[in-house]
Amino acid sequence: MSADTPLDTSATPADTAPGEKADHTANPPVDGGELIRFDKVTKRFGDNTVLDGLDFRVDSGKHVTLIGPSGSGKTTILRLLMTLAKPDEGTITVAGERLHPAPEKQIREVRKKIGMVFQQFNLFPNMKVLRNITEAPVTVLGLSGDEAEARARELLEMVGLADKCDAYPSQLSGGQQQRVAIARALAMRPQVLLLDEVTSALDPELVTGVLDVLRDIAHTTDITMLCVTHEMNFARDISDQVLMFDSGHVIESGSPDRIFTDPEHERTREFLSAIL
Ligand SMILES: Nc1ncnc2c1ncn2[C@@H]1O[C@H](COP(=O)(O)OP(=O)(O)OP(=O)(O)O)[C@@H](O)[C@H]1O
Ligand SMILES: [Mg+2]
Repeated sequence: MSADTPLDTSATPADTAPGEKADHTANPPVDGGELIRFDKVTKRFGDNTVLDGLDFRVDSGKHVTLIGPSGSGKTTILRLLMTLAKPDEGTITVAGERLHPAPEKQIREVRKKIGMVFQQFNLFPNMKVLRNITEAPVTVLGLSGDEAEARARELLEMVGLADKCDAYPSQLSGGQQQRVAIARALAMRPQVLLLDEVTSALDPELVTGVLDVLRDIAHTTDITMLCVTHEMNFARDISDQVLMFDSGHVIESGSPDRIFTDPEHERTREFLSAIL
């Protein structure tokens, strides 16, 4: 790994020609076509219908930002993709394979393609930083300890924390913990990275460092990103598309420029004027 390609974690970095995007994915889709698909997905909690026949698609390599009022179901969408929850109706497909309904083995395989970073970091508190990152690649992907450690060190360098390998999460700031959580998600070489308000639990002065790392990932890798954020400048910088949710549906979608400067829907205008 040369110092000038800190973002390239692929096994064969020399294959990446100058100017080409680095490949972080274990198994990238060949055609750059549709990667995520929700078909008529309904999710209820008791008599609260959170998603109501939701349809949407995300193409491989795209960066899509989900916006919408609190309780509109943004986190629920990401949790469904992570198989932390199941839809009541409809189908979810990732890279052409059904996530739901599907046999357990298939779900595990699809699940490996997806990484998630949460608002509250969720690092393993009893493990040092390095082990937080190597644990899943070793136990889930079957990497050797040495391979996993080499990759973890590259990723820690990328997020600016090469000197924190031996720290425990409690010894890090919130921003540092979140950057470890991003490195941990990337260590699995996901095709898709799900980001759920990853800076909203941070002190304001720590937000920039985390967003800079995510901008770097967005601009220098092929990873598909599905992002929930209230950081509208960040969303504008990285997004190909913004989806506005309300009452269980996508009520409006478009380029960040269009949605942020000329929203069609009254509900979108109200929402944006409240947060901008
Ligand atoms: N495990 C659960 N049990 C019961 N209700 C839930 C559960 N998880 C989510 N809900 C409900 O589903 C709705 C959508 O929640 P969700 O967390 O997806 O919203 P959100 O758009 O992410 O909101 P926020 O912007 O506040 O994070 C809310 O009404 C919430 O109360
Ligand atoms: Mg949420």
